[in-house]
Amino acid sequence: MTIVKTIEEVRAQVRAWRAQGLTVGLVPTMGYLHEGHQSLIARSVAENDRTVVSDFVNPIQFGPTEDLATYPRDIARDAALCEATGADLIFHPEADEMYAPDFCTYVDMDRLTGGLCGKTRPTHFRGVCTVVSKLFHIVQPDRAYFGQKDAQQLAVIRRMVRDLNMPLEIIGCPIVREADGLAKSSRNTYLNEAERQAALCLSRGLAKGKAAVEAGETDAAKVRAVIAGEIEAEPLSRIDYVELVDWNTLEPVDSTEGSILAAVAVYIGKTRLIDNFIIER
Ligand code: PAF
Repeated sequence: MTIVKTIEEVRAQVRAWRAQGLTVGLVPTMGYLHEGHQSLIARSVAENDRTVVSDFVNPIQFGPTEDLATYPRDIARDAALCEATGADLIFHPEADEMYAPDFCTYVDMDRLTGGLCGKTRPTHFRGVCTVVSKLFHIVQPDRAYFGQKDAQQLAVIRRMVRDLNMPLEIIGCPIVREADGLAKSSRNTYLNEAERQAALCLSRGLAKGKAAVEAGETDAAKVRAVIAGEIEAEPLSRIDYVELVDWNTLEPVDSTEGSILAAVAVYIGKTRLIDNFIIER
């Protein structure tokens, strides 16, 4: 496995693979990889001849008061995990390789990005769409892999690829959880011991909400109340949002019939965590 820092090195390697008729999978990440990322890499390795992992903390998807400076980074550890999982290439650029000083072209959309995380992170998805488009242009993969934990991001990227006729397949992969239910996230490392315990209110609340839907509850407001009630019972939690939306449009729903995303964002202390479930019927 090789680690490269320039766009030209990625292009040269992918050209060589293409010349041999090989297929290429891409796993875009911001590094500090965990088992969630590993499941995406493993899936790409299983489905493609070669797998590229991008490892880049994308500055333009962070708001001015967010955790860009403190976002955890450990390329040596990431490289070991990628190698062990069978990845072939890590693209680990510096910010100035991706963004020229006079960079001024963005990819944005006027639906799907205004609600959920977009309410408190108004420039986030513009940053995500822009960097992901750049990565797609640089690597030109056959398939790209994204986790369902970032459900809104997955929906946004699928829509971007459809709307802009990007010639690749987007594969959404299931959430990977700790044994006690907490969704794996690089930001879990911010939690102290008490917060780590408190963070279980997200998965507990969602599990109760899902059980209510499975038991036949169709009133979205009631399911929302079940989820929010469980989270609010945890003193260290502060809800950013608890919402039930249509999984295709991300618009709020009154009924749980159809394909539904139940998504939460919750501050545990200063750390903002997200989690969700999707019921497709
Ligand atoms: O999900 C992430 O880690 C990031 O948003 C992504 C897709 C790698 C873009 O920077």
